[in-house]
Amino acid sequence: MAFWLLPDRLDMVDAMNFEEQLRNCRQRVDDFLRRQVDSLPEVSVPLRDAMRHGLLIGGKRIRPFLVYSVGSMLGADPGIMDAPAAAIECIHAYSLIHDDLPCMDDDDLRRGKPTVHKLYGEAQGMLAGDALQTLGFEILSGHEMPPELRDGQLAMLRELSRATGYLGMCGGQSLDLLGENARLTLEQLEQIHRHKTGALIEAAAVLGTLCVPSPDPAHTDLIRRFARVVGLAFQVHDDILDVVGDTATLGKPSGSDEDNAKSTYPALLGLDRAREYEQKLTSEALECLGQLPYDTGVLQDFARFIISRNS
Ligand code: IPE
Ligand code: IPE
Ligand code: MG
Ligand code: MG
Ligand code: MG
Repeated sequence: MAFWLLPDRLDMVDAMNFEEQLRNCRQRVDDFLRRQVDSLPEVSVPLRDAMRHGLLIGGKRIRPFLVYSVGSMLGADPGIMDAPAAAIECIHAYSLIHDDLPCMDDDDLRRGKPTVHKLYGEAQGMLAGDALQTLGFEILSGHEMPPELRDGQLAMLRELSRATGYLGMCGGQSLDLLGENARLTLEQLEQIHRHKTGALIEAAAVLGTLCVPSPDPAHTDLIRRFARVVGLAFQVHDDILDVVGDTATLGKPSGSDEDNAKSTYPALLGLDRAREYEQKLTSEALECLGQLPYDTGVLQDFARFIISRNS
């Protein structure tokens, strides 16, 4: 397990706790992403700087972590997992840049720094998001995969594009904005969260399964179900942090949801029931893992981390 960790730490893998593994994953994917951005030619330096700011300054890298941990659990080669891990982080970075724009959540702070549009202007910010989206697909489609993984590579592209667009993140973001100042039902709120956040987290896990040739469909189904509930729990916890967290720890403005009159789990259920709900979702996630014939320890830690993190 955990072969994807940095080569010079391989002998220490067993002694690593979850936080250390996450840190190592961050370093690995950041090194890969930095090489990608550094190799972009000078077409527009401000646009490239805006992309770099949105992509490379901070971030927990939980989506790449899911690619690497699912793939490693199934025995994937680490070199195979770098491209899907990096690609999904590009898509996530794009979604955050656009999410912060004045026409969306209108936030000035992200990962403890001014948001991309604050530094580079709205037009360059919008373009940086667009260019990071296409960079993600370029990284994934351009990666040389061994012949036995070429069908899987196409399936990864299909999974990622579906989870990013109308049926996934973009669709959910649209519903999220339409839901401002409205009193939504729990079903409607769940629909928003599953799309705007859950879809990409589910895709990250599925990308991990596609890093091995001919993954077992029954196992993929369980991993997908695991990621689906973790993805929902992730956004429930994000909503809770928006209420209970402080701006310095979050690195983004706390109270943003209330300022924008968003429908959130704490707003609909209250904090205590929102916390109970994320616990229930995490139990469901752990049940899915219990049915898999692999060492799921890292994924169990991951599910618990999602609802215990403070940023
Ligand atoms: C924040 O995602 C946006 C949501 C989908 C809730 P993360 O909490 O993964 O953000 P970073 O990448 O760690 O900054
Ligand atoms: C954003 O949800 C989900 C995305 C698709 C980016 P939020 O608007 O709650 O994310 P934060 O709190 O700004 O990170
Ligand atoms: Mg938002
Ligand atoms: Mg936001
Ligand atoms: Mg939020």
